[in-house]
Amino acid sequence: MTRPVGPFLKWAGGKARLAPRILERAPSRFGRYHEPFLGGGAVFFAFAGTRRAPGARLSDANGALIACYRAVRDAPEAVVAALAPMAEAYLAREAGERAAYYYGVRASAPGVPAEAAARLIFLNRTGYNGLYRENRSGGFNVPHGRYVKPRILDRDGLMAAANALRGATLCAGDFEEACAAAVAGDFVYLDPPYLPLSATSRFTAYTRGEFDPAEQERLRDAFEAMTRRGVAALLSNSDHARIRELYGERGFGFETVMMSRAINSVGSGRAPIAEVLIDNLGRAEVRRALEG
Ligand SMILES: C[S@@+](CC[C@H](N)C(=O)[O-])C[C@H]1O[C@@H](n2cnc3c(N)ncnc32)[C@H](O)[C@@H]1O
Repeated sequence: MTRPVGPFLKWAGGKARLAPRILERAPSRFGRYHEPFLGGGAVFFAFAGTRRAPGARLSDANGALIACYRAVRDAPEAVVAALAPMAEAYLAREAGERAAYYYGVRASAPGVPAEAAARLIFLNRTGYNGLYRENRSGGFNVPHGRYVKPRILDRDGLMAAANALRGATLCAGDFEEACAAAVAGDFVYLDPPYLPLSATSRFTAYTRGEFDPAEQERLRDAFEAMTRRGVAALLSNSDHARIRELYGERGFGFETVMMSRAINSVGSGRAPIAEVLIDNLGRAEVRRALEG
């Protein structure tokens, strides 16, 4: 049996559970697939499993993340070769000695892309809650995690991911640039950092710089600009009154879905929360472009 392809990183806000619904909602035929907030890539990998996203354009503001994807795509064997001894050394240590090993890896800065990718995967698998967080000078600063038997090296999973990524374009950059690259008849899935529903669910752990309400407005403008160009787009966000206000009254489709959060250190935060899927598939410009 061939290995089903999926994310090789844990990622805050990962959409593995929502991916089947997003695939159902996507147009049955489209030009190129774009994902400007790639993160762990759950939706891209779900598309790749159905062979519907050849030549995808994938991007994220996190440059280290994109460099890791490139290394996995271009040199998966070298990533495995660099990761295997790290996994072995870590797992061979007593629980009390693992943190020192983790912090040693965290302090390293390999220049070879495959080694930098292995470091990022190692830290993602053994760090606290699989989070990605940087300090002001761009250093990864997530503390050691508490996994008893973390799965650090998944050779088959990395090879399957490399296979899915073959032919994809990977870009580090802002979503606006990524949205501008989409043309009429293409399909774009957007999964921005969500607008927090309450002060306690405030989540800013992705990259330096916040995705604040002004960023949500800039994203809405990019969504509207794509719509006018005939680009099919689907966006997920929290079911927040401000999000409904930003996208309402423009002929966009809304669907509410209940999702439980995979990464959340606060126990009560694991209760399902309402999210919205917003699409422009009913807009005449987009329908014409998809039919044409
Ligand atoms: C909710 S996560 C995406 C999760 C992804 N769908 C998955 O399944 O793993 C949001 C992503 O947006 C990225 N991001 C934040 N601000 C951005 C910006 N201005 N432009 C592009 N990407 C950005 C973050 O680095 C993060 O990876």
